[in-house]
Amino acid sequence: MNPIIAPSILASDFANLQSEVTMLNESRADWIHVDVMDGVFVPNISFGVPVIKAIKKHSKKPLDVHLMIVHPERYIETFKEAGADSLSVHIEASIHLHRTIQQIKAAGMKAGVAINPHTGVIQLKDIIADIDLVCLMSVNPGFGGQSFIENTFQKLAELKQLIAERKSKALIEIDGGVNHQNAKPLLDAGANVLVAGNFVFSSSDPKSIIRELKLIQ
Ligand code: DX5
Ligand code: ZN
Repeated sequence: MNPIIAPSILASDFANLQSEVTMLNESRADWIHVDVMDGVFVPNISFGVPVIKAIKKHSKKPLDVHLMIVHPERYIETFKEAGADSLSVHIEASIHLHRTIQQIKAAGMKAGVAINPHTGVIQLKDIIADIDLVCLMSVNPGFGGQSFIENTFQKLAELKQLIAERKSKALIEIDGGVNHQNAKPLLDAGANVLVAGNFVFSSSDPKSIIRELKLIQ
C-alpha cells in the first residue's frame, strides 16, 4: 500500500502561505502536517490557532495537527474549531492521557500520541488500542531541518510488534528528518505515514518530491 504523505507546513514560506497550501492541494500529499510549538514544551514557538484557521480556509487536505505544547487537554475544542482533522498530543505532556484521547475522539478528530526520541515505545502499551495514530519522533521536537535519529528503526520495530500484540489499528507516523535515504527503509520497516518538512519545501520542485515519496513501493 502506498504511504500517507504529510508535508510539514512548518518548512513552508509563511509569507506565501496561501500559495503553499494551493501547491499542496495540487500535489499527491494526503495530509498537511501542522506543528504547534509553545516555547515551553519545546524550545521554540511556531504558530497558533489563527494561522491554522487560515490554512484550513484554503486546504483541500486534512490537517494533521501535532501539538508540542504543555496542557494540550485545555485546547482540544479550540483546535477542532480551528480545523484539525487529527490531533496528536505528546505523552510527555499528558498526565491524564487516556482521558485526553477520549476527549479528542469525542470532538470528532482522529487521536494521536507523539513520543520523543528518549521515550520508550513500551509507554504506549496501555493506550495503543485506543488511538488512531502514533507520531514517532525521529528528531527531538522543536525544529525542522534536523538530522534523522537512526534509533528510530529500533523503536519502529518495537512499535510494530506492540500494535500487533494489542490488535491496535494505529498508524505509525514518522516525524523528523525524513529524506531520500530513509524513506523507503522506513516504509519497509512498517511506517504508514511520512512527515516531511525541509525535504519537500527546500526543493525547487516540492510537488515532484511529494510524488516520489508517495510512489515508493
Ligand atoms: C519537529 C516537527 C516536525 C518537523 C519536520 O518538531 O514536529 O514535524 O516539522 O521537519 P523536517 O522534515 O524538516 O525534519
Ligand atoms: Zn511534527
